[in-house]
Amino acid sequence: MKIAVLTGGGDCPGLNAVIRAVVRRSTLHGFEVMGLRDGWKGLLEDNHFRLTRETTSGILHRGGTILGTSRVNPFKVDHGLEKVMRTVDRNGIGAVIAIGGEGTLSAATRMSQEGLKVVGVPKTIDNDLNATDFTFGFDTAVQIATDAIDRLHSTAESHKRVMVVEVMGRHVGWIATYSGMAGGADVILVPEIPVDLANVAEHIQRRHATGRLFSIVVVAEGTRIRVVPGEPEHIVTSGALDEAGRPRLGGIGQLVAEELERRTGFETRVSVLGHIQRGGSPTAHDRVLATRFGVHACDMVARGEFGKMAALRGNDIVSVELSKATSELKRVPPKFFEVAQVFFG
Ligand code: F6P
Repeated sequence: MKIAVLTGGGDCPGLNAVIRAVVRRSTLHGFEVMGLRDGWKGLLEDNHFRLTRETTSGILHRGGTILGTSRVNPFKVDHGLEKVMRTVDRNGIGAVIAIGGEGTLSAATRMSQEGLKVVGVPKTIDNDLNATDFTFGFDTAVQIATDAIDRLHSTAESHKRVMVVEVMGRHVGWIATYSGMAGGADVILVPEIPVDLANVAEHIQRRHATGRLFSIVVVAEGTRIRVVPGEPEHIVTSGALDEAGRPRLGGIGQLVAEELERRTGFETRVSVLGHIQRGGSPTAHDRVLATRFGVHACDMVARGEFGKMAALRGNDIVSVELSKATSELKRVPPKFFEVAQVFFG
């Protein structure tokens, strides 16, 4: 059988490890593997190339994706479904392995309902996909953010400053919570809990009144924030839209830093980690998880488990309904966040 692999959405450390694993496992099943260029776009535009053991060798540790990626949604393109199905028929593609997050896998769910034989692999540094304990890429992003917080800690302490660290997390605060806990943050602000800046400023003032002269504040980019008393909380965006038509986030760190300095009088600086969190080599943990997902996804195709996604449950890789992964977001549970809060202040 001929199978095709695509990577969609924001890139993520470990994508190449999945691709390599699919190709290597395909030998067992006698599959020929095609790589689709730039996510669903590869199927819309019939743009692909052959993936072999040779062309996928030496990519396990490499960040990014050798296939390229995009946020193009075939259901938002004129005659998108027909174009996809035409490419599938023309090339005799027996199944598609879609490696992606919420957007890519929502499209995969619909494609499956339309008759495409598709298997999903959960990818996102945000770790917000339901039905899997973890996505690959998250561990790497947390490690990068934790390293940054450690470095900011020493300079914050030396200068007696407040340091605000803006991390990714459009809908959820997994990266903020994990890296904040690992880095000993004094305040963590997440999309799950709307924030009143007056409370954060008071909290910092109380902490400094007890003799601690520096603070680390970690804020997820998608956190809803109230700056002016009485007004509703809002998300901070650059004003531009991304390829999928969603507001481009970013800027909340700057806003929080300016407001904290104004309200507390403490010198406050900001560091925005941005795409550094997604770039470069995956951690050993993510390489192993991505490899296990890739092998399992290939086996799912062999077993005919279509409309499903490889997922991590405990330490096992299992198959779950694709629709379950995207029907709702996996948020940081209050009980988990309460543990992080023990160390605030
Ligand atoms: O992959 C999800 C994510 O990390 C979000 O947290 C963030 O909003 C988004 O990527 C930003 O990606 P880009 O700048 O590539 O649109």
